[in-house]
Amino acid sequence: MIKNQVELRKLHDERQTDLLNAVFETQESERKRLAEDLHDSVGQVLSAIKLNLHRLDKTAGGQGTLPLLADTRKLTDECIQEIRNIIHNVLPPVLTDYGLKEALEGLCIKIEQNTNVKVDLKKKLDDERLQPEIELAFYRIAQELFSNAIKHSEATIIHLTITKDAGWLVMEFKDNGRGFNTDEVKHGFGLKNMESRVQLINGEINVYTKPKNGTITIVRVMI
Ligand SMILES: Nc1ncnc2c1ncn2[C@@H]1O[C@H](COP(=O)(O)OP(=O)(O)OP(=O)(O)O)[C@@H](O)[C@H]1O
Ligand SMILES: [Mg+2]
Repeated sequence: MIKNQVELRKLHDERQTDLLNAVFETQESERKRLAEDLHDSVGQVLSAIKLNLHRLDKTAGGQGTLPLLADTRKLTDECIQEIRNIIHNVLPPVLTDYGLKEALEGLCIKIEQNTNVKVDLKKKLDDERLQPEIELAFYRIAQELFSNAIKHSEATIIHLTITKDAGWLVMEFKDNGRGFNTDEVKHGFGLKNMESRVQLINGEINVYTKPKNGTITIVRVMI
């Protein structure tokens, strides 16, 4: 029995380390994405602004000045908008300002607008705000589940239900896609990150799926 307990303890410690590593990997990959976004959007626009300013220097007072000024102003506006987009992507203001319910609504609308997947959202939730860590974790998990369903499942419809009941917040995400074998898939960051996020808020996540049978993911946390 003692040997078993030692083994269990070791497994537990290993799991904690794995989860912690996944958290760090999440942070690193978020930072990398942010750096890439900044480089590809704002960086490009700023280079164009710099080039325009250089040309303005040479044509100052000349005929080309007005169109160059107009163009530079347009680029500056673009730059401001790009920065806004990036910041919104890192921390969606609808989530911080209005909470999980509204943020999930917005997410579902965006998915329906940008993909061929139909989304059926059911909210059995009052307007009361939840702890920010819980709201953020649930929102990020919903984003990853949407991303997985769209990338991998070939689903045509997604049912998303968020319920507050008897002290539990429960999110159920169901796609009618091809499903997968949890033992066989090559895990990306997504599944690991979701587990880490849930672990950090003392919640649980369960994935039920079989090849050709769609996927159901249930996330719950005591609130
Ligand atoms: N809803 C789904 N339907 C079918 N297969 C899925 C679904 N969700 C996940 N999978 C399978 O599980 C694998 C692991 O998912 P995970 O989110 O960890 O990684 P990923 O989506 O491939 O990459 P990343 O999330 O790092 O961008 C996927 O590659 C896919 O094969
Ligand atoms: Mg994924």
